[in-house]
Amino acid sequence: MAEESGKWVLMVTAQTPTNIAVIKYWGKRDETLILPVNDSISVTLDPDHLCTTTTVAVSPSFDHDRMWLNAKEISLSGGRFQNCLREIRNRACDFEDKHIKIEKKDWEKLHVHIASYNNFPTAAGLASSAAGFACLVFSLAKLMNLREDQSQLSAIARQGSGSACRSLFGGFVKWIMGKDEKGSDSLAVQLADEEHWNDLVIIIAVVSSRQKETSSTSGMRESVETSLLLQHRAKEVVPKRIFHAVCLDTSPPIFYMNDTSHRIISYVEKWNRSEGSPQVAYTFDAGPNAVMIARNRKVATQLLQRLLFFFPPNSDTDLNSYVLGDKSILHDAG
Ligand code: ADP
Ligand code: DP6
Ligand code: CO
Repeated sequence: MAEESGKWVLMVTAQTPTNIAVIKYWGKRDETLILPVNDSISVTLDPDHLCTTTTVAVSPSFDHDRMWLNAKEISLSGGRFQNCLREIRNRACDFEDKHIKIEKKDWEKLHVHIASYNNFPTAAGLASSAAGFACLVFSLAKLMNLREDQSQLSAIARQGSGSACRSLFGGFVKWIMGKDEKGSDSLAVQLADEEHWNDLVIIIAVVSSRQKETSSTSGMRESVETSLLLQHRAKEVVPKRIFHAVCLDTSPPIFYMNDTSHRIISYVEKWNRSEGSPQVAYTFDAGPNAVMIARNRKVATQLLQRLLFFFPPNSDTDLNSYVLGDKSILHDAG
């Protein structure tokens, strides 16, 4: 380490968008390593609207690892944070610039401070854990000079939150469930880059920004324990879409969607039927918020106009905003 060791701070900032699964991950075969029971496919959004910005820093003057999420200090004692930190520290490499020299063996003695900010509601069913852990792993990997490629990093992010592995890539991304019980082959790969189907526009109806009652982690644990449909879905039905049926088949049932969500589905279905061909697709994560994918900008504009008319923000529908997104690329702001 550099001689005047108390006096420096090394810092990296990164920005990572969230991703929305079109074939959902729901159910783990290993809770600690976060290994899923099925493959999943998602589209990564552009970072302008739904993204996490994380700054990570090391300094010899830090005496323990600390993290702030949305300006509030949170505990890093949870297994997921510890697993990510350990995996990254194990792979840290020598670092040297004009002022600082850190050798591989020094990294385990250095403590990190992490400050992370989500520009959208946390734990509300908009995949904050995906953007959050992807950004955490990406920024720590930069800081500690890891040589791993994005897929290898995705296997680390997976251990923070399953859906996070897919946010290491832009465009259309597949999380391969893998076969290895240690998880070495459970990682994300890019299926098509952000230019693919460039016309698609994604509109998210933020039906509720409140923290959900059942986190994704406990929701899928309950489904694995009680839903007969889950195994059938994982083995036979993926890639068909019956994810919310599994939640309803869970005991007690998990109602992630609400009345507004159902009314939005009816509206989109009716519109598609009247056009004679699908103009808009829709999907819901573990929350009531509707993610709508319009086939092009023209359809997106019409859709937004109609949504604003039939589901105006801040009316008694509890629907409070719309977010427009494009497919996107991981953006390194540091
Ligand atoms: P969501 O639908 O928002 O992904 P989850 O229940 O899956 O909800 O995950 C929410 C959890 O993800 C939070 O309680 C927190 O532990 C973690 N998380 C959210 N944002 C971040 C972040 N920026 N950095 C690290 N962890 C985060
Ligand atoms: C419905 O990745 O949030 O969004 O791995 O326990 O952190 P943990 O769960 P998480 O679950 C996401 C569930 C989903 C579907 C998906 O993103 O594939
Ligand atoms: Co999540």
